[in-house]
Amino acid sequence: MIHELTEADLAEMTDICAKSLDLEPHPWTPALVREKTLGAHDFDAALLLGYEIAGEVRGFTQAVARDHAGERRGWVRLMAVNPAWQRQGIGSALLSEVERRLAERGVTRIGFMDVPANYLTPGVDFQYTAAACFLTKHGYHVTHTNLNLMCGLTSDEFEDVDEDIVGFAQRGITVRRAEEGDREAIAAWARREFAGWEEEILACYEQSPISLWIALRGEEMLGFGAYDSNNVNTGHFGPTGLSEASRGLGLGRVLTRAALRDQRRQGHRRAVIPWVGPIRFYSKCCGAWTDRIFWAFEKPLRG
Ligand SMILES: CC(C)(COP(=O)(O)OP(=O)(O)OC[C@H]1O[C@@H](n2cnc3c(N)ncnc32)[C@H](O)[C@@H]1OP(=O)(O)O)[C@@H](O)C(=O)NCCC(=O)NCCS
Repeated sequence: MIHELTEADLAEMTDICAKSLDLEPHPWTPALVREKTLGAHDFDAALLLGYEIAGEVRGFTQAVARDHAGERRGWVRLMAVNPAWQRQGIGSALLSEVERRLAERGVTRIGFMDVPANYLTPGVDFQYTAAACFLTKHGYHVTHTNLNLMCGLTSDEFEDVDEDIVGFAQRGITVRRAEEGDREAIAAWARREFAGWEEEILACYEQSPISLWIALRGEEMLGFGAYDSNNVNTGHFGPTGLSEASRGLGLGRVLTRAALRDQRRQGHRRAVIPWVGPIRFYSKCCGAWTDRIFWAFEKPLRG
């Protein structure tokens, strides 16, 4: 009944997500589900499990095992059961099997959804009541909460960012879209300054145009503003970062607004600024408001 899913199951997985993860502010598409499963950089086919009866996938889960901050960590990146079949033990069966497989991979601590670099949301939305009950029942506890901001993109003001870019140019600082030739320098800088974000920053190179703005003084990288680093085409903004010495100059604002302008031009009316962070900065810089709250659930695994 529980078996590994493949590309052929993508449409069914998408349908289950649309029906059961129904608080998401974007339409579910096969591309988004693929990004979280078969297309993920850390994809492990043995950790994409479906619960199938009579040829129908009734629920599924995707987990990952990663070395993170010196530890072997595991996460359930997605889990959803078709509402027609919930509360019949399907989620529990999937969780128990995926926990067993994560333990086999040396994982000693398992989290839910807040997977670095490729996450739908940074934890379980507190409004998913069934998920909170389900996880508590299965021995998970909340370690902290994470927050998403939302930002409106309809204002023409985002089009004024070029004036700020010209202002920085007059002070010897270039703000521009990252180019293919910058990749190695940006990767080296990210490893030094923001090791946890290197994967997300480089994921921007998979988009066309490259969904990354950078600030430079000569050859020296000062900072970046990214979007579509994951959750591509859903209005996902971030991350953004400046090296210590470049803070306080207004560069964060211009990099953020340049990235948001791209998203606006791509037709998004809103951007999600996930897993923050500096609320006051984003509130001032682009009028962002506090939006969703997520519980970071965790459980120790004993082998
Ligand atoms: C969370 C989820 C995966 C659980 O799957 P499931 O197959 O319904 O779960 P099971 O039947 O194995 O377990 C039942 C337990 O889940 C919880 N649960 C399931 N549906 C519930 C509901 N409508 N209200 C409250 N608790 C619920 C309860 O703790 C229940 O145990 P109990 O009856 O002893 O209280 C499923 O509800 C779901 O897909 N929810 C939407 C997607 C989601 O929130 N995913 C986030 C990651 S979990």
